[in-house]
Amino acid sequence: MLLGIWKRGIVLLAFLLSHALGSFVGINIGTDISNLPSASTIVSILQAQKIKHVRLFEADHQLLTALANTGIEVMVGVPNDQLLQIGESRSAAADWINKNIAAYLPGTNITYIAVGNEVLTSIPNAAVVLVPAMQFIHSALLAANLDFQIHVSSPHSVNVIPQSFPPSTATFNSTLNSIMYQYLQFLKNTGSSFMLNAQPYYSYTKANGIYPIEYALFRSLNPDNQILDPNTLFSYTNMFDTMVDAVYFAIQALNFSGIPIIVTQSGWPSSGGDNETDANVDNALAYNTNLIHHVLNNSGTPSQPKMPINTYIYELFNEDLRAGPLSEKNWGVFFPNGTAVYSLNFESVVDGGTISSGLSGVFCVAKLSANSQNLKQGLDWACGPGGANCSSIQPGQPCYESDDLSAVASYAYNDYYHRTQASGGTCNFDNTAVITTNDPSHGLCIFAGSSTTNSSASKGPASDSSPSVGVERLQAFSSGYLVLVLLLLFFCW
Ligand SMILES: *[C@@H]1O[C@H](CO)[C@@H](O)[C@H](O)[C@H]1NC(C)=O
Ligand SMILES: *[C@@H]1O[C@H](CO)[C@@H](O)[C@H](O)[C@H]1NC(C)=O
Ligand SMILES: *[C@@H]1O[C@H](CO)[C@@H](O)[C@H](O)[C@H]1NC(C)=O
Ligand SMILES: *[C@@H]1O[C@H](CO)[C@@H](O)[C@H](O)[C@H]1NC(C)=O
Ligand SMILES: *[C@@H]1O[C@H](CO)[C@@H](O)[C@H](O)[C@H]1NC(C)=O
Ligand SMILES: *[C@@H]1O[C@H](CO)[C@@H](O)[C@H](O)[C@H]1NC(C)=O
Ligand SMILES: *[C@@H]1O[C@H](CO)[C@@H](O)[C@H](O)[C@H]1NC(C)=O
Ligand SMILES: *[C@@H]1O[C@H](CO)[C@@H](O)[C@H](O)[C@H]1NC(C)=O
Repeated sequence: MLLGIWKRGIVLLAFLLSHALGSFVGINIGTDISNLPSASTIVSILQAQKIKHVRLFEADHQLLTALANTGIEVMVGVPNDQLLQIGESRSAAADWINKNIAAYLPGTNITYIAVGNEVLTSIPNAAVVLVPAMQFIHSALLAANLDFQIHVSSPHSVNVIPQSFPPSTATFNSTLNSIMYQYLQFLKNTGSSFMLNAQPYYSYTKANGIYPIEYALFRSLNPDNQILDPNTLFSYTNMFDTMVDAVYFAIQALNFSGIPIIVTQSGWPSSGGDNETDANVDNALAYNTNLIHHVLNNSGTPSQPKMPINTYIYELFNEDLRAGPLSEKNWGVFFPNGTAVYSLNFESVVDGGTISSGLSGVFCVAKLSANSQNLKQGLDWACGPGGANCSSIQPGQPCYESDDLSAVASYAYNDYYHRTQASGGTCNFDNTAVITTNDPSHGLCIFAGSSTTNSSASKGPASDSSPSVGVERLQAFSSGYLVLVLLLLFFCW
């Protein structure tokens, strides 16, 4: 069924609506933005992208109004600074529900309330009021007869688990045990879900090179090199699954089971400061694309293969008013003016090796600043091991330009990128390439992804030439791998 849909090449973000098999991908809408678009503009962006699930960090009245009758499901947050009040007073909780939730029903389809955000790790002093706040909110819903429609939970950082590898031995920080126990008991009693903010970006960057970036970006690892949990023998192909599985095992260690996990934040920044080189468009596009595939594939994690992991991408807009390093302001898929930072709006999968007809309007070209020696290497790699179809840049062919290395490299880079992007290939080439929306096609030289009707010339079967994993990445991986395994073993024992 899934494959059938993909074969028909439906635009990927269209999947952001509830998926046939049950799992969904939604998006966070943070509003620390100096030029915040109007609520109605935000809703039209969501609708244009076919996004069906959103998370609001607070009960923004204009957004809640604008989301009415849109078919979009809404998770509403209780901000951390309102937690104390609600956790200490049953009537404050009831007030909050009346003003911020009940007032918008049934027009606005509110289905979850997220009480606080990363309370246990970011404001440990307020930890004791977390579960009482959840209980008061739930009682208020019960009194209003809304408890079946709206579930209550609270998102946690992965830092509630001090040591998440191997996942099978993960436990919650023991100083949090009694609160965690109450929290899980509450979820169990009310049929709610554990909320997890899973950000491989932070774990990857904090680990300072211990992990290969492929592991963080869901790029295929060579099967021989997958990362094994020595106790369960589950093999992990990506960091996201490791984080989620660590939570399942930590829950199990407190003797709870059957509690689903919702990932309330996951994403990758598209730009950052000089010392944040992994925050770039290429990685952000790869992470979010692969995350969407992973979640909608509905295959769960190694330990819970049948449990869907509904996930909210972090986030819709870049938030220029957020504090912290430059990357903190650049997690958005869109600029606040509505222009896409990068295009997540493409058809999904390389099917049977043919070029994805998606990524329409997005091109991978040589950087102007790249030097010719590096471009030559990139070109050779793309046309050789990379499997790009370079026939159009041969002498006598439409894209042949004997004196413009940048132009021919661009053709090869773009062809490689369009063939492999859906399976994790990226536009990087040792940092000599960049994504653009300016179509470099000219005359009869048509680039993959061009809207000119002649794009059929650049399609066609490529069964002999679409590696799902680029050699550049495998090499990088195998050198880091031994170190990784040794370190992991060191940590386990
Ligand atoms: C709200 O969302 C829930 C959960 O997906 C769905 O069952 C329900 O039909 C929706 N309600 C409306 C009014 O759209
Ligand atoms: C566990 O949590 C406590 C309280 O928040 C914190 O002080 C401590 O550093 C944490 N321990 C670990 C190993 O993360
Ligand atoms: C979980 O259950 C096992 C077996 O009943 C018991 O030995 C263990 O102490 C329990 N652990 C916790 C944290 O309650
Ligand atoms: C990056 O540089 C900024 C400003 O120079 C500094 O505040 C920050 O801590 C640095 N981040 C890392 C990860 O080194
Ligand atoms: C879905 O996941 C399974 C298990 O990880 C994998 O074998 C399969 O190829 C994936 N399917 C798609 C369409 O990505
Ligand atoms: C939107 O903002 C971005 C970043 O500031 C800018 O690059 C882009 O040109 C803007 N788009 C429009 C249509 O103004
Ligand atoms: C498309 O291809 C035809 C021949 O196949 C050519 O005559 C025409 O100029 C091409 N159009 C463009 C926009 O390149
Ligand atoms: C390579 O591209 C050329 C022209 O664009 C096309 O005729 C040929 O069929 C392609 N080859 C493969 C293997 O896709």
